[in-house]
Formats: sequence, C-alpha cells, structure tokens
Amino acid sequence: MTGRFISLEGGEGTGKSTQAKAVAAALEAKGHKVHLTREPGGTPGAEVIRELLLSGHDEKWNMRTEALLFAAARSEHCQSLIQPALDRGEWIISDRFIDSSRAYQSVSGLLSDENIMALHHVGSQGLMPHRTFILDLPEELAARRAEARDRGDSDRIGGRDSDYHRAVMAKFRQYADEEPDRVRLIDAAQSPEDVTANLMHNLSDLIG
Ligand code: TMP
Repeated sequence: MTGRFISLEGGEGTGKSTQAKAVAAALEAKGHKVHLTREPGGTPGAEVIRELLLSGHDEKWNMRTEALLFAAARSEHCQSLIQPALDRGEWIISDRFIDSSRAYQSVSGLLSDENIMALHHVGSQGLMPHRTFILDLPEELAARRAEARDRGDSDRIGGRDSDYHRAVMAKFRQYADEEPDRVRLIDAAQSPEDVTANLMHNLSDLIG
C-alpha cells in the first residue's frame, strides 16, 4: 500500500498555506489520514535549518550553500516524515517541495536543474510528489497579498526583487508545461472556496 503525496507551489502571497489546510481538511472529511506539512521544515531538525535559511541578510549564504541547505532540510523531512507516512498508506500535503528548489535556487543561473535534482537524489532518493499544484496569481495581486501578510518584514528569500520573483514564477509555469500529468497550474485569483474545489477536482483520479 502506498499513500499519496501532494505538493503546493507558487510565488509569495498566492494562498498556498490556506489551500494546503483546506485540501487536508477535505481529504480528512473523506476518511483519509492526512499529514499537513511544509518546506523548508516539517520536522524538528528541518525547522532548525529553515531558521538558518530564512533569517538574516540575503548575502548570508551563497547560492550553492543555500541549495545544499534546502536539500539537507528536505532529506530530514523525507526520511523522518514523508516516506514513512507514504509507506503506511497515508496522505502528505506539503506546502512547497522540490519544485521550489528547482525554481528559486536555479534562477541565478549558477546551478542547473540537473544540479538541483542531483542534490535531491543524494538527499532524498529523488522522491517526487504524485501531484503538484502551482498556484498562479497576477504579479501585482500576489505582491499586494504578500505585502499585506509580511508588512515589510519578508524573509531572506521573499525579500528579493520583483525580477527574481517573476523569473521564479516563469520556472513554475514551465514545469506545468513540461509535466502536465504531475504539475497542474491553478488559477488562484478565484475565491478560496473555488480554488479548493478546483484542487479537489484535480485530485479525483488519485482519491480513487
Ligand atoms: P514560505 O514563505 O512558503 O514559507 O517559503 C519560504 C521561502 O523559502 C520562500 O521564499 C520560498 C523559499 N524556498 C526556496 O527558495 N527553496 C525551496 O526549496 C523552498 C522549499 C522554499
């Protein structure tokens, strides 16, 4: 028996956390055992690495160190939480996973997608979600929502400039084009209830 692994991805302010909770609740209501988790983080050790990654100045880590730290946090998360739950036949809903590393850590051009995936193979045996949702919002709206949430106090990576975040979103959209079965682009400008309904519709083949 193997469980189901779903990740939610997208830029800052697209409503991922809200939707991750709503999807987890909807699946639980159908009788599934669900773990709601997030990256970076999700286990005590990985949450320590999260704090290292997201606090302080942008220059604190170079891009290679940053990618290695994300891969290290993910290794802990996969080994201690995600893989054991999947082996028990349970569901994992993760607010971000490997596609965030592929997008955020590769836009500088220093690291290729192959580099990021090589780290993922070393750290987490290349574990991939069964389905990945990219929550897509017009740039202005996403920036307004992120600003309302963070009130000028964004984290080390969220605080990067709009060119960076635009390039990240372009990467996410590219993954949806390249892997349409796994990666689905979801219009996040709808009401939260409509977005949740769309996500559940896009899970119907996995719910069985
Ligand atoms: P959050 O704001 O969704 O909690 O995510 C934390 C930040 O970490 C966000 O700016 C995206 C970034 N991030 C990466 O750069 N690479 C990764 O692999 C992950 C999981 C997150």
